[in-house]
Amino acid sequence: MAGPGGFFLRSRAGEEPGSTMSETILITGGRIIDPANGIDGPGDVLIRNGKIAAVGVSEHPDGAVRIDATGLIVCPGLIDLHVHLRTPGFEQKETIATGTAAAAAGGFTAVCCMPNTRPALDSVETLNLLAETIAAEASVRVFPIAAISMGRKSEEAVDFDALAAAGAIGFSDDGDSTRDSKLMRAALDASKRLDRPVMVHCEDWTLADGAMNEGDVSRSLGIKGIPAEAEEIIIARDLLLSAMTGGWLHVCHVSTARGAEMIRLAKERGVRVTAEVMPHHLVMTDAWVAGERTMHNTNEPAGAPGAPKDPNTKVNPPLRPESDTKGLLTELQRGTFDIVATDHAPHAEPEKGGSSFEKAAMGMSGLELALPTMLALVRAGHLSLNDVIRWLTIEPAKLLRMPLGTLTPGADADLCIFDPEATWTVTPETLRTKSPNTPLLGMTLQGRVRYTLVQGEVRFNG
Ligand code: DOR
Ligand code: ZN
Ligand code: ZN
Repeated sequence: MAGPGGFFLRSRAGEEPGSTMSETILITGGRIIDPANGIDGPGDVLIRNGKIAAVGVSEHPDGAVRIDATGLIVCPGLIDLHVHLRTPGFEQKETIATGTAAAAAGGFTAVCCMPNTRPALDSVETLNLLAETIAAEASVRVFPIAAISMGRKSEEAVDFDALAAAGAIGFSDDGDSTRDSKLMRAALDASKRLDRPVMVHCEDWTLADGAMNEGDVSRSLGIKGIPAEAEEIIIARDLLLSAMTGGWLHVCHVSTARGAEMIRLAKERGVRVTAEVMPHHLVMTDAWVAGERTMHNTNEPAGAPGAPKDPNTKVNPPLRPESDTKGLLTELQRGTFDIVATDHAPHAEPEKGGSSFEKAAMGMSGLELALPTMLALVRAGHLSLNDVIRWLTIEPAKLLRMPLGTLTPGADADLCIFDPEATWTVTPETLRTKSPNTPLLGMTLQGRVRYTLVQGEVRFNG
């Protein structure tokens, strides 16, 4: 089931055999950016039978459907290795249909879904049932991540080999750390023979019993904090276990500068570690919990102050002080992070808005906000557009071991076409996700996806 053509989406072409897939599409007048092939310049893209036929062409075949990309950027479809799609079990928060609609609206053509579902993605049976829902509902590719431990309880290992054979692209107990170090060792051993990552959520469970970052802001708000060390202690453990076993460790959502530095040093010593950083940890700080709405590291105008203790600012790992946003950005610039991912974590009203900050669920909706947030860092001069697109396309494709994330002729025609200038205001109505839990609500962002194509089929047009 694994592989780019396998475990994913409904084929609309199947409704009327061949009709959409055999279409010839010509995308004209855009700026093509394909980091995998070192392309950045004006040109047209020709799509035939769902595949990239040519890039930069002047050939204009008769009968081709034309997409006018004047003023737009044409790049490979974005790939997100870290999303929560909530199926099975939490469909009040998100469904495969709404989560993949949000993905398409954010420019993503492939997403990997985390296993903290009910039941957890810890058996071949559950994975197979999920595959059926994906086949029926998904509008972009979905690749599942299986649990490390049965029920994500950190007691008994899953059957890594069977789950990989059933399509799991990696293993994670995300939402929690795998407490049992011996189990982590076994997972890392499995990662070697399967060539799939162990994707770790690093959080010492004894220290991480707070609701936001531990620091000046938590003390002034009287909220129990989560120290940076809670994350860094488990990053250190897992780096040591990776060095010991030679297994493939992928560190999820690094939120502290020191955590990133430890990963860089481990990489320099040859440890087999990859890592991701999230847009929200690059621009938002713990001051957002107190109501600040400044996009750090950018030149964007600040949003109107939010209410203190807005549950939409509660995320795990938490928003950290400004020094960490700066440190993470520096580490991203120096190549410490392999990819940018979203940790899209939709939550319904009762788990978020209905309760106190302390009781509210952790997580932010992210799929539709990642690209505009990263573009703000590009406009501020900190990152190149080429690098941002690289971290969202070919780099995650490499970690997936799949021939995605490029516009190489012959590749599946997965594309994102976006307007880097267009401004829009974040509201529940402008988002496709079922759960618009983001502290960016009400703020105006720049950069809007216009078309998302998967295998040459338009899956979003806005
Ligand atoms: O903020 C988070 N939300 N962090 C996690 O680790 C889990 C996620 C979720 O599932 O809501
Ligand atoms: Zn996590
Ligand atoms: Zn997560």
